Amino acid sequence: MTALQPRAMGRDLVRRDGRLKVTGTAPFAYEGPLGKAAYCHLIQATIARGRVTTMDITSVQAVEGVITVLTAGSVERLASTEDNELAVLQSDEIAFRGQIIGAVIAETSEVARHAAALVRVTYAQQPHDVELSADRADLYKPDKLNASYPTDTAEGDVAAAMASAPITFEQTYTTAMYHNNPMEPHTTTAFWDGSLTLWESSQGVHSTRSTIAKVFGLDDEQVRVVCPYVGGGFGSKGTTHAHVVAAAMAARAVPGRAVKLALTRQQMFFLAGYRTPTIQRMQLAADRDGHLTAIAIDVVEQTSRIKEFAEQTGMPTRFMYAAPNRRSTHRLAALDVPVPSWMRAPGECPGMFGPEVALDEFAEQLGLDPIELRIRNEPAVDPDSGKPWSSRNLIACLREGAERFGWADRAPAPGVRRQGDWLVGTGVAASVYPTYRMSVSTATLRYEKGRYVVEIGAADLGTGTWTTLPQIAADALDVEVEDVEARIGDTNYPIASVAGGSSGTATWGSAVVEAARAFRNKFGTDPADGDEAEGSVSPPIDKYAMHAFGAQFVEAKVHADTGEIRVPRLLGVFAAGRIINPRTARSQLIGGMTMGLSMALHEGSVLDPRFGHVVNHDLADYHIAACADVGDVQAHWIDEYDPHVNAMGSKGIGEIGIVGTAAAVVNAVYHATGVRVRHLPVTLDKVLAQLPSH
Ligand code: MOS
Repeated sequence: MTALQPRAMGRDLVRRDGRLKVTGTAPFAYEGPLGKAAYCHLIQATIARGRVTTMDITSVQAVEGVITVLTAGSVERLASTEDNELAVLQSDEIAFRGQIIGAVIAETSEVARHAAALVRVTYAQQPHDVELSADRADLYKPDKLNASYPTDTAEGDVAAAMASAPITFEQTYTTAMYHNNPMEPHTTTAFWDGSLTLWESSQGVHSTRSTIAKVFGLDDEQVRVVCPYVGGGFGSKGTTHAHVVAAAMAARAVPGRAVKLALTRQQMFFLAGYRTPTIQRMQLAADRDGHLTAIAIDVVEQTSRIKEFAEQTGMPTRFMYAAPNRRSTHRLAALDVPVPSWMRAPGECPGMFGPEVALDEFAEQLGLDPIELRIRNEPAVDPDSGKPWSSRNLIACLREGAERFGWADRAPAPGVRRQGDWLVGTGVAASVYPTYRMSVSTATLRYEKGRYVVEIGAADLGTGTWTTLPQIAADALDVEVEDVEARIGDTNYPIASVAGGSSGTATWGSAVVEAARAFRNKFGTDPADGDEAEGSVSPPIDKYAMHAFGAQFVEAKVHADTGEIRVPRLLGVFAAGRIINPRTARSQLIGGMTMGLSMALHEGSVLDPRFGHVVNHDLADYHIAACADVGDVQAHWIDEYDPHVNAMGSKGIGEIGIVGTAAAVVNAVYHATGVRVRHLPVTLDKVLAQLPSH
C-alpha cells in the first residue's frame, strides 16, 4: 500500500464536536428528535433463578398516565431467540437477578418509574449459584474465546521446564468484577411506523441494526439506527443489550409514537454487561541469567448460564515474552449471573495483571531490575504465531519511560523509603493491545458546494472520530483539513464496523483513504459539484503480528499508619504507530491510564452470593477514580511509523492505556511497602496488617 504524506494527520486539532458538547446542544440518543414521546421503564426480577408465577399489574394500570404494561404473557413473539440475552419477555424463566420481566410505558418517565414499582410479582424460586472459584467441579472449556482466539495453546513442555529450571515461580492472581459506567447511560429512543427507527447510544449503528433486525425478523432496510454522539461506551455499547429490544417492543406497542427508554445507573449493573472476575495461575521458569524457559497462565473466569462470553485473558501471555515452553488455558463457570461482555481491553486488561505482577516478583527473585528482565526476554518474532512483528517497540517505551520517570532514582529495596508518614515506591509494567482492522467498512466521498464530504456509519464515543476522519481524508485528497467534513453515526451512511477492539480509526480511515483515491482517479483534482466515489477497506493483513506496545510507570505512596494508598504519578510511553491527532490521542491514553488506576485502587463489583446481585450497584458505592484520586498523569509516545498496518501507519489507542496500569500500581505499592497484593483491587485492608513497623 502507498503511505500517506502526513500534513493534516499529526496536527493537534480541537474536536469538531467540542462546542456542541460543552454547550449541551449535541443531540444524544435520549433526545431523538421526535414529537411527544412516551416513556418506558423496565421491571426487573428480584430473584436470581426460577420462574415468574404471577404478575399483578392492576395497581400499575390504575396509575394515571400509564399507557400500557408489557409482560412475558402479553408481548409479541420474537422472530429469533437464538441470543438468550435478547430474548426479552419470551418466557417466564429467570436466569439472573435483575433480568427484565416487564416494562411500563407511560406519559412521563416519572410515572413509568413509579408505576413499575407497584407491580406485584410472585416467583417459583430455585437455588442459584453465583460463586466463582478455581476448584468448582463444573468448570468447562469453551470452544473459543472472545475475538475468536483459541481456548488453549501449548508449545514445548512447561511442566518439564518447571521441574528442571534453576529458578521457578508460581502464584495465583485475581482480578475483580468490574462494571462499565460511561457518563451517558444506555438510552434508546424508538419509533415504529411500519419500519423501525432507533436513536441508540451505540458503538456501532450497523451492528445494532443487523442485531435488532434479526431479533424482530425484519430486513436490515426496515431498521434505521442513528447515533451521532455517544457519552462513552468502553465496550458496554459495543454489543446490543436487552433494553434495546424492550424499547423496540415498546415502540411497536404504541405505533406512531416514539418511546424513550433510559437505563438507570442501577440498572446498568444488571443489563449492560461487565468484566468477568478472573483467577490467573502463573508459572515462570528461567535460567540464572533471567532468560525465561517457561511461561504459563491458566485462567478461570465466569460466564452466564444463558449466554457464553469467554474473555481471552491468557492471550497476551502467548506472545509478550520469549520462552520456548508456553501454555495458556481458559476454563469457565456458567453461573446464574448477568451476561459478561466487553469492557475496555477485554482480555488484555485483566490478562496483563497476573503476568506483569508475576514478572515483578520474579525479577526480585532473580536479582534483576524488572525492566532488565523484560528486555532480556524480548522475542525476535511473535512466539505464538511465528510471524514477524509489523513493528514492536516495547524496549524503546521501557527505556524512554524510565528516563522520563526517573526510574534510576528508585530505592534499592522495597519498604525502605519514607517521606514523613508515607512509604514511597515505584513500579513498572508493560502494556499491549492488538492492532486490528475490521474486514467490513465503506465510505463515500462527495464534492459538495466546494467542500469534500465523507460519509460513513462510524461512531464517535468521545474519541475524536468527527475530527480524525477529516484529517485522514484531507491527506488522502491532499487538501486542507478545513475543506473536509465528516458525517457519521447513521445507518443511512455506508456500512461501518463497530467501534471496538480499538479498530475504528484504522478501519474507517482505511475506507476513507480508498474512497479518496477512487475519487481522485475518477474526477482528478478539479471535481464538479455532486461528484462522488466510494471506497472499502481491504481485508485484514495476516503476514505480520501487529500490536501496539507501551510501558507504564507508577509512583505510589502508602500511609504508614493507615495504609491509605495514593498515586501521585502515572507515566506511560506508548508505541502505537502514527498518531493522527495528538490531542484526541492523549485524552484516550490518559483516560485509559486513569481507568486503570481506578481499576487498581477503587473499582470492584461486590456480588452478594445470598441474593446474586452486585450490592454496590450505584455510583455512591461503586467508586470510580475522581479528580481527587488522580495525580499527575502523563502519556507520551515514541515516533513510530508502521508501514504494514494500514495506509495511515496508525495503531489503535482506545484501549492500550488501561492495559498494565493495575500491575504497575500493585508493583509500586509493593516497592513502597514490601507488601505484595495479588488480588485486585488494592485496598488498604490488604496492606495494613503487614506494613513495616515504625
Ligand atoms: Mo472495546 S471493549 O473492544 O469496545
